[in-house]
Order: sequence, then C-alpha cells, then structure tokens
Amino acid sequence: MNNRKYFILTYGCQMNVHDSEKLAGMLEEMGYKSTNNLEEADIIMVNTCAVRENAELRVFGRVGDFKRLKEKNPDLIIGVGGCMMQIDENARKLYEKYPHVDLIFGTHNIHHIPELIKRIKEERGRIIEVWNQEEGLIPDIPYKREDDFKAWISIIQGCNNFCTYCIVPYVRGRERSRPAADIISEARKLASEGVKEITLLGQNVNSYGKDLKEDIDFADLLKRLNRVEGIKRIRYMTSHPRDFSDKMIKIIKECDKVCEHFHLPVQSGSTRILKKMNRGYTQAEYLNLIKKIKSQIPDYSITTDIIVGFPGETEEDFQETLKVIREVRFDMAYTFKYSPRKGTPAARHKDQVSEKIKQDRLTRLIEVQNSISLENNRKLKGKTVEVLIEGESRNNPDTFEGRTRTNKLVIVPRNENLKGQIANVKINRVGSWTLYGEVIDNTRETVLNT
Ligand code: 5AD
Ligand code: SF4
Repeated sequence: MNNRKYFILTYGCQMNVHDSEKLAGMLEEMGYKSTNNLEEADIIMVNTCAVRENAELRVFGRVGDFKRLKEKNPDLIIGVGGCMMQIDENARKLYEKYPHVDLIFGTHNIHHIPELIKRIKEERGRIIEVWNQEEGLIPDIPYKREDDFKAWISIIQGCNNFCTYCIVPYVRGRERSRPAADIISEARKLASEGVKEITLLGQNVNSYGKDLKEDIDFADLLKRLNRVEGIKRIRYMTSHPRDFSDKMIKIIKECDKVCEHFHLPVQSGSTRILKKMNRGYTQAEYLNLIKKIKSQIPDYSITTDIIVGFPGETEEDFQETLKVIREVRFDMAYTFKYSPRKGTPAARHKDQVSEKIKQDRLTRLIEVQNSISLENNRKLKGKTVEVLIEGESRNNPDTFEGRTRTNKLVIVPRNENLKGQIANVKINRVGSWTLYGEVIDNTRETVLNT
C-alpha cells in the first residue's frame, strides 16, 4: 500500500498549475507519491481549463484514452476537476459518456479531495461534486511546490470583470481576497524553505483588497511583501490595464524586489472592439499607461495577451491591434483566436468572424510580434543581466536555465554550484524566446569552474 502513485495532468493558466500543486500536496499527505508514468498511476487527476474550446476538446480526448488504463487496472481512480467541470453540460457529459471516470469536482471544492477519494474507495461508486460559485475562499491547503526556488502565492480568487468573451467569472466566481496576514506569513515560510522568488496569483491582482475589511490595496501588499527577508524577487499576474494605477508604478519603482516585468493584457488595439469586450479602457488610455511605465521604470519588459477575431472585428480593427503592437513593442504576446464560450455575451453575437479570417489574422499577428521580440532581445546581446538560475533546462541536460527580472528565459552552461543562485549573466546569443549566455559572477562566494 505504500507504493501508491498519482499522476496529475494540468491544463490552463497559472491558477490551475497552483491548484494542481494543492492537489499534489493533499495526495502526498494521503501517502501517494508522484509519478510521470501514467501506466503505474493508482490515481489520475485531470485539472481542466474552460477558457477556449480547443482546451476542452483536448481534455475529452485525453480522458477518453484513460479508459484503456482503467480496463487494465480496475482499481485505478480517475478524477476530473477544474474550470471545465463548473459548467453543467461538461460535467454531465463526462459523467454519462465516460463511465471510467470515478470523480468529477469543481474549482471550489478541491480541499475536499481526500474525503471524496476515501468515499470512492469505501463505496466503490462514482462521485460528482461540483459546488456553485458562492462558497467563499478555498481554505489554505498544504501544497507541493513544482520548483525549488520559485513559488506561487494565491492572493485573490475569482473575477468581477465580466469581459464579454470570458468564461472565468462564471467558473471561478466573484473576487475573494485572501487576508494580507496569511499571504505575508506564507511568503515568510517559503523564504525559510529557500524560495527566492514569489509570484502573486489572481485573475485580476489589481482588485486585491477591495472586498476586505482591512484598508489595503495591491500596491500596499507589494510594499509589505517587499520587506520579507530572504525573498529576492516578487512577480504578480494578471494585471488589468484599467486598474493599473499611478500608485502601482510608484510602488514598483520603490520596491527593489518587485520585478520590472509588466504583463498587461491588451486583448485588442481597437477602441471599438475594446468597448464590445467590456474592457474599460480605450487604445489611447492603454498607450498612455505604457508611456508612463516606459518613462518611469528603467529596464522594463512588457508582455500581453491578444485575441483576434472577436465578433465584428474588421480588418481596420485588426490593423489597430497591429498598430498597438508596433507602438508598444511588446517583448512577448500570448495570442489567441477568439473562441465562443456558451453563456458569455460575445458568444451570442451574430457577427462571428470566420475561422479562415481568424487564422489569417493570427498568423500575421504572430509574424509581426516575433520580429519585435527578436529585435528587443537583440538589444540585450553583449549586456549583463541578473538571472535566478533554476536548474536543468527543460530540453537539454547539458545546460541550466533561469529567468531575468524581466522574465526572459536564459540558458547557461551547466554548473551545479549555480542552482538557486542569482547570477550575473553575459548574453552572447539571442532568439525570439530565449537568451543564451555565460555566468560572469554570482552572489555566492564560490569559484566557478565552467
Ligand atoms: N477566446 C479566446 N481567448 C480568450 N481568452 C479568454 N477568453 C477567451 C476566449 N473566449 C484569453 C484572453 C485572456 C487569456 C488568459 O485568454 O486573452 O487574457
Ligand atoms: Fe476573464 Fe476579463 Fe476576468 Fe481576465 S479580467 S479573467 S479576461 S473576465
């Protein structure tokens, strides 16, 4: 019984990645160990995303494949949870058409997993338990960190914005902020475990504190976290451009640990489309915010999310998006084709854009953005940047990887002494996505032998 193993498959955003860390934490407390090999798993958990249709289709496909594993091992427990399961239709379809799935749960009850698994084992039955959205904050759960030196901290759950294309407010519920004291003590604990970098998570971190009794906003929280000893870097995601205040820029300037990376999803460059999206800012207001950041923060990086083919988007609207990209010169953009989500206002619009046009705009957008990313990176050639070295590269065991304060991926030659160190790296070569360099010194007094 001691060799029981779990496998977790995660789709979607960082919130989901962190929820999966919580799932892992609970399963470990129950005595399970992690495995990367599906064939030897006793529990498989799938944490799903509902933001776009293709993620949903992939989930149904993958979960369908697990039938084979269940046939081989009838004791295998298969659970599917997360955003997709908050939508009735999906949960019902999974329950009815995928009888090999034992457990269906939502985003609000992941802390009940141990109890639900126990019940499945005792009763040998199937359970579907999805709570509605109004159940408050998920209590603190011991989580198993994916990284040694970096950690996610959840600061606010849910979203009140109701952008007209987005399913998130329906599946994650209204905004609920976590008390600041809990966040600070979590940061202290992480620092004591050797964590150097924290990323504060929320669908809209700039709304932090609005629903709390204490008088605190997101900028104040950053200021307090900046004082936590041992933490060297503070990141946050995601920010809503509408709520990104002058106070934020001032505090970021003052707080040495808060990184100069601004992820500000613009979604569209067209004021007309932004209005239809219910984003709450115009093109001019967005560009003005970027101007303020550029003029006040040295060595910044700016990244974004962009949707093409929102209902009614014309070629002129799309040109406005290209104009914004060229003007801001984003370091990176996550680009998406609009995907109608049932239940959201935009899905009901009659003037849906064809798949062909969406694909064409996406291709053109990516082409422009890639060349800007490369040009921005080229400016770093020959420069020295500060990198938190995380460990072995994902694709190459001969190299180590880490990130700059601006969140750019940097590859350096392998050197065990560097793990978890903040090092100065001279950049020798660049691509659109990655920088390559060599460590010229690090903050620890070790002699390097690379
Ligand atoms: N279709 C396409 N992209 C979407 N996003 C959110 N909803 C949709 C949708 N219906 C994108 C937004 C958001 C990112 C996380 O996903 O750009 O910022
Ligand atoms: Fe979705 Fe808009 Fe909320 Fe982001 S701010 S989660 S895009 S509704």
